[in-house]
Formats: sequence, C-alpha cells, structure tokens
Amino acid sequence: MDMSLADKRALVCGASRGIGRAAAVALAGLGARVTLVARDSEALEAAVADLPGDRQEHAGVVADLGEPESVDRLVEAVRARGPVHVLVNNSGGPPGGPALAAEAGQFSAAFRQHLLASHALVRQFVPDMRREGYGRIIQIISTSVREPIPGLGVSNTIRGAMAGWSKTLAGELGGQGITVNNVLPGFTATERLDYFFKMQAEKSGRSTEDVESLALQRIPAGRFARPEEVGAAIGFLASPAAAYINGINLPVDGGLMRSI
Ligand SMILES: NC(=O)c1ccc[n+]([C@@H]2O[C@H](COP(=O)([O-])OP(=O)(O)OC[C@H]3O[C@@H](n4cnc5c(N)ncnc54)[C@H](OP(=O)(O)O)[C@@H]3O)[C@@H](O)[C@H]2O)c1
Repeated sequence: MDMSLADKRALVCGASRGIGRAAAVALAGLGARVTLVARDSEALEAAVADLPGDRQEHAGVVADLGEPESVDRLVEAVRARGPVHVLVNNSGGPPGGPALAAEAGQFSAAFRQHLLASHALVRQFVPDMRREGYGRIIQIISTSVREPIPGLGVSNTIRGAMAGWSKTLAGELGGQGITVNNVLPGFTATERLDYFFKMQAEKSGRSTEDVESLALQRIPAGRFARPEEVGAAIGFLASPAAAYINGINLPVDGGLMRSI
C-alpha cells in the first residue's frame, strides 16, 4: 500500500494544537514537507519544532483565517515555498449557543473563517495540484454534518455549508487527480472539547465531570478520540493509497453516530 508523501508539500490550517497539529504530524511522518497555519506564533513554532523529519523542510505561517487580507498574505507566503499537493482546511470551531440566539454577524463571521477561507485556498492551490497531477483537499468538519449537535447552532449550520461545498468540488475536480473529502471527528480530546463540556455544564447546571461522563456513555468505543487517531485518517486520505476515495464524509467517532 503506497502511503508515501515523500515528494509532496502539505498546507495544514489550524495546526498549532489539537486535530490540525495531529494532522501535520501524520503528514510529516509520511514524508511530506508541511506548512502549518495558526494565529499564535509561539504555539505554531513549538508545533513546527515537534514535527518528524528535517525541521528545515517544515514551516509555520501566522495567519487569521477569519480575515481575508490575512488569508491573502498566507497564500503569498506559502506560494513562495513551492506547489501545494495536500490542503487541510481546518480552523477553530465557532462559539456555541442555540441557533435562534445567534446574531447574523456570528453566521457571517463563521462563514468567512471556515468556508470563504477554505475556498480562497482551494482556488489558489488547485492549479498547482492540476499541474502536479496530485491533489488532496481535506476538510475537518464534524459529525454534526449528519447529526446536528444541540447547542452548536452556528457550527451546525456552517458545517453543512462546508459539506455541500466540498461535495460539489469533489465532482468538479475528481477527473483531474484531485480528491476532496471531509473528516468528521467525534468527541476528540482537545481544547475545543474542554470548551464544549464547560459550555454544556453551564447551560445544564451539571458539573463538567457529569457532562463528560454522559458523553462517554454515548460512545460505543467508551472513550474520547486521541487527536492522533483523527490525524491518521487525514494522513490516509492524503496518501496515494486513497486515490479512489472522493467526495466522502469519514467519521472518526468511535461509533458515536447512530445514522447509517
Ligand atoms: N475536538 C472535538 O471534539 C471536535 C469534534 C468535532 C469537530 N471538531 C472541529 O474540528 C476542528 C478542530 O478541532 P480542535 O478540537 O482541534 O480545535 P482546537 O483545539 O480549538 O484547535 C484549533 C486550531 O485552529 C487554530 N485557529 C483557530 N482559529 C483560527 C483562525 N481564525 N485562524 C487561524 N487558525 C485558527 C488554533 O490556533 P490559534 O488559536 O493559535 O489560531 C488551533 O491551532 C474545529 O473546527 C472543531 O470545532 C472538533
């Protein structure tokens, strides 16, 4: 099975911690030269320094995916390093709360940070992928694409938009050596999960520990995912071995989702 990304370059957004960082580690482990993106430069540099392989082959670029000018500067910085073969679109999840309580501006901010930033990167780097005859575009979204999560109104809405956009691109690019897929993490032990449990505890009046243990009871695997387990799925989808997998939503959720 060909899992080698030895001659490939990858761009991983939201990569200073959590799932994005684990994706960067997985891709570097398969031999890719990886550029990591986040807002906090110190955390970003620490993540770059931890990557497997030659440190000089990897880089960090500070950018805010919610700011179009920042995304433009990111593109320039990445372009200067050479073509991109693997693009991982990932960012921090939108703030929680019921859909009904959300202001219009919260939807547009999340749309800008998630969908418009991803779209700008795809438009910039698809020509590289076409020329190189190799492209992997992977979105990190959520199981909420299939089963919306109560209390995450804006997030549920934006994930649905991402999934529709991604599936459309899969049809448009599939004949050109480029695949477009989504990874749907379930409960994964990161800062985002801590935030989610705290928010649910405040809303329900339960302790954070109770909220966590109720969540665990819903997961057939009986535990939360480790970020590396989601990173491994991203590494596989990015590899030559996954060339015929296109347009899918891959849950990495320990069996959490009840739908088929
Ligand atoms: N963890 C879970 O259980 C879970 C489940 C389902 C879906 N998800 C989704 O999967 C994605 C990744 O989750 P995670 O748990 O790894 O999140 P996380 O621990 O909060 O990490 C988010 C990463 O994105 C970066 N980031 C956030 N906002 C950014 C921005 N505006 N511009 C550039 N980078 C930004 C963060 O770095 P900086 O803050 O330095 O920018 C960080 O590196 C999120 O969309 C999350 O909602 C997570």
